[in-house]
Amino acid sequence: MDKRVNSDPWDQVAQRLGTDLYLDLQPDPTATPRGRGARRRRTLAEALRAAIDDGRLPAGTALPPYRSLAADVGLARGTVATVYQELIAEGWLVARQGSGTRVADTAHRQARVGPSATARPAAPRHDFALGQPNPSLFPRADWIASTRRAITEAPDEAFGPGHPQGSARLRRSLAAYLARARGVRADPDHIVLTTSVMHALELLSRTVFGDSIAVESHGLPFHRQVIERGGTSTTPIPVDGGGAVIDALPGQASGVLLTPSHQFPTGVPLSPTRRTAVIDWARTGSRLIVEDDYDGELRYDREPIGALQALGPDVVIYTGSVSKSLSPAVRIAWLALPAQHVDTVVWAKGIREPDASIVDQLVLADLIDSGAYDRHIRRSRQHYRRRRDLLTARLADTGVGLPGIAAGLHAVIPVSADAEPEVFAEAARRGFALAPLSLFRHPDAPAGADVIGGIAVGFGTPTASTFAADVDALVALIVDHPYRR
Ligand SMILES: Cc1ncc(COP(=O)(O)O)c(C=O)c1O
Repeated sequence: MDKRVNSDPWDQVAQRLGTDLYLDLQPDPTATPRGRGARRRRTLAEALRAAIDDGRLPAGTALPPYRSLAADVGLARGTVATVYQELIAEGWLVARQGSGTRVADTAHRQARVGPSATARPAAPRHDFALGQPNPSLFPRADWIASTRRAITEAPDEAFGPGHPQGSARLRRSLAAYLARARGVRADPDHIVLTTSVMHALELLSRTVFGDSIAVESHGLPFHRQVIERGGTSTTPIPVDGGGAVIDALPGQASGVLLTPSHQFPTGVPLSPTRRTAVIDWARTGSRLIVEDDYDGELRYDREPIGALQALGPDVVIYTGSVSKSLSPAVRIAWLALPAQHVDTVVWAKGIREPDASIVDQLVLADLIDSGAYDRHIRRSRQHYRRRRDLLTARLADTGVGLPGIAAGLHAVIPVSADAEPEVFAEAARRGFALAPLSLFRHPDAPAGADVIGGIAVGFGTPTASTFAADVDALVALIVDHPYRR
């Protein structure tokens, strides 16, 4: 009998494979000595399948030579070799001359065939999911170059616990960038970095929002929810062709959350008179305006609309993130606060940065300072403008005009509110990922004839190679159905 099997590491619940991976190798106390060998082989095979299935061993990962795995887990080499062969036969692993045994590319798909596959939504045939930049545009080479520079230049202190206000270097870069690109008046000392606009709203609801704030009748549901979870109720105000109806702001609200440059999701900008009116409303009642400038840089053919914050830095809290401009995977966002709120918001984050990566903040600072961020925005704008133009032209051929589409990554195809559920159901049947406007409607928004209907489509999401065909399919969906407004 092999000695290594006698000093049985199977007694431990987990075993280490290579340097990083734990395999769950549960001992079977009921197994007879004769049955133990087969049981161990089965257990190792199951543990490897589970590690591949849950992503701990991604496609392409090299497995250790079976001799070293055998030594690590205390099994005979022949047993591990048999397990590898079994998993190769099942398609989980591949063995290639010279590159050893690796996790197969198809293994994850194969692993998911089964009950869990039905619980996951099938991949959409036409992916117009809302609000995502095209991942193929991510400036990989620039990000790598900025990482190299930022990490090389950073002082040692940068790798200690972060200050909850965020990296001073990024706050300086952002203050300059936001002033130049969006007209924001921000002192770096009044900027607080967060991971997302949602995180920013969560902090505000724990600190400066009062009992109730007003929100646009249509907006992101999870933004409303995060505010409400923080103990602030939200009251909807209507949105029309001039953006949020400022005259409808309730007197008791302690503030309002707006998307003034590009109302989300309807796409209209807040009219100039309403911009002035909302600043007056805030100043006269000591109230706050939160400006969510989520896609302000992505404008196509209208005169740029600067940030509302520039009209009232004393009453406007400005927030934005790189989720649309770079990628929602980066997780960097900011708040530019009126001076009197800075300490309260920083204090709410604790004594050291609890969430955000200061290292990534340094990389973004370099990306901005090197000019690569501006170049990326200009490239993205051209790319999305071409997409927007194709979508607009193809829909115009069928007599459908798109309102509010001079900016951003999504468009709203007007459909009457009554017809919306039917169009959406048909879209789902045809394999579209898109969103009905009703999804964004505040539950307390008044019903009735004025309710806006429409189908919101994210034109950043489809891949470049399928975009034209996806647009054709979208046009067919709309012309096949007589329910456009
Ligand atoms: C209206 C709106 N605000 C803000 C954001 C930014 O999101 P976050 O920074 O939370 O990722 C988005 C992104 O989808 C958005 O649609």
